[in-house]
Amino acid sequence: MPSRTTLILGVAASVSLVAAAPCDIYASGGTPCVAAHALTRALYDNYDGALYQVTRNSDGSTMDIYPLEAGGVANAASQDDFCASTTCVISLLYDQSGNNNVLSRAPPGAFDGPYTNGYDDLASAIGAPVTLNGQKAYGIFSSPGTGYRNDQTTNIPTGGDPQGIYAIMDANHFNDNCCFDYGNAETSNTNTGNGHMEAVYLGNCSIWGTGTGEGPWFMGDLENGLFSEQYLAENTDNPTQTEPFVTGMVKGMTDQWAIRGGNAQSGGLTTYWNGAFDPNGYNPMSKEGAIVLGIGGDNSNGAQGTFYEGVMTSGYPSDDTENQVQANIVAAGYASVDLNTAPLTVGSTITIRATTPGYDTRYFSHNGTKIVTEVTTTANSTAEQQTAEWVVRDGLGFSGCYSFESVDQPGNFIRHYGFELYLESGNEKQFFEDATFCSLTGLQGQNTNSIRSWSYPTRFFRHYADVGYIATEGGVQFFDATGNYNYDTSFVVSDGFLSG
Ligand SMILES: *[C@@H]1O[C@H](CO)[C@@H](O)[C@H](O)[C@H]1NC(C)=O
Ligand SMILES: *[C@@H]1O[C@H](CO)[C@@H](O)[C@H](O)[C@H]1NC(C)=O
Ligand SMILES: *[C@@H]1O[C@H](CO)[C@@H](O)[C@H](O)[C@H]1NC(C)=O
Repeated sequence: MPSRTTLILGVAASVSLVAAAPCDIYASGGTPCVAAHALTRALYDNYDGALYQVTRNSDGSTMDIYPLEAGGVANAASQDDFCASTTCVISLLYDQSGNNNVLSRAPPGAFDGPYTNGYDDLASAIGAPVTLNGQKAYGIFSSPGTGYRNDQTTNIPTGGDPQGIYAIMDANHFNDNCCFDYGNAETSNTNTGNGHMEAVYLGNCSIWGTGTGEGPWFMGDLENGLFSEQYLAENTDNPTQTEPFVTGMVKGMTDQWAIRGGNAQSGGLTTYWNGAFDPNGYNPMSKEGAIVLGIGGDNSNGAQGTFYEGVMTSGYPSDDTENQVQANIVAAGYASVDLNTAPLTVGSTITIRATTPGYDTRYFSHNGTKIVTEVTTTANSTAEQQTAEWVVRDGLGFSGCYSFESVDQPGNFIRHYGFELYLESGNEKQFFEDATFCSLTGLQGQNTNSIRSWSYPTRFFRHYADVGYIATEGGVQFFDATGNYNYDTSFVVSDGFLSG
């Protein structure tokens, strides 16, 4: 054993000198990728196939997004061209490993999704823009209800077979619901018992155990529990994650499993847990070999999170192999970009006027706690005008976007609830996120703004029968109707009536 390990390390070290990509590194370590999913880049130096597929909501047509070159970053410009003046979702994540373990819209399981026959939502194609060493790419910003899955995989470990996983996620986008996972799950979309999953989880669901602080933590979703160590307990070696790009790793084999993690923009990995499985049904494991992204094994889909890239390996990767993968991730140069393509001025007072023909004298205003549109002019009383004026604030749930505070009801903000817009106040994470919106160049053109929900990037401010909603083009609610979608979601944002 020692001599074999030494030999493998020697090979891996020389390969890393020629900038091997993550799956090249895993292969050198004797633990090849059996699934490799990335929106952002090729995970093999020689991979030049499709990374993911986008679907245009306006006409249902699809396009594959490729790397710019073999081993390169995704061609985000091809997506931007294809999706210009409409909205797109990510419909497929291709598998770069050659096993065709493609992820698509997750089917129903013990829990249903919102779509026809209980399928989950697909993620917006623009929810998580980033750059890699200055080149634009997109990740998956997964809202509650969103999920991807493959129940009929090839070469994914089953039973107690050894497996490794890594995923790059965003520690500023999480919640305490089950379960923002990437990894091995049940093929039946239902909970089949202890040890039937082995996935990496990021979030602060604390039902089955925690790390330190408030979370989010990287934990292992091993089914019937998000484990931060052997038992369902607080693991004081497992820290709260804070960075916008974090690497999380979970690996397991008979008698041993580990959780490791680190900042995906700098530095190395720390081992948060390395030891035996809980003896109660987890040793050996009973992995089934399906793959989930953004959901639990039983299709629990209340969690939210962001995924940029990740792999599953056959075999238990050595710490050294994983350290080299982390070095490659850091070298990939992930960086955040402004989510607003048409920024607003924080502190300014604005009006938000509809542009739909026949309705373009109507402004976003409020009638009590309901957001509605009303015809408004300078002939209205000052009090009436002020119901249609909004102060732009730093986003309560994400400071890189905005919140809209009522002029006549200070301390109250536009928030969505059940995808309808209300004027309310609050002081909880859920309220803050529901009250956070990003400003994009309008779907209807340069002189308009389209204002999307931060937490549901497929959903844009829309007026429909004079009521305010956040609407997905072609979604399941009546206010998601495709007709007039671009007009109904494009607004003229101007200085306020009075404070102009
Ligand atoms: C998760 O974190 C949020 C934000 O820090 C906090 O408001 C919430 O109470 C936490 N949930 C649990 C279950 O600890
Ligand atoms: C405001 O809401 C009340 C109660 O629903 C309704 O009667 C009234 O017509 C609304 N006013 C406007 C201007 O829409
Ligand atoms: C402005 O006045 C018109 C005409 O009375 C009225 O219908 C409209 O609701 C008023 N706008 C607001 C924001 O109250």
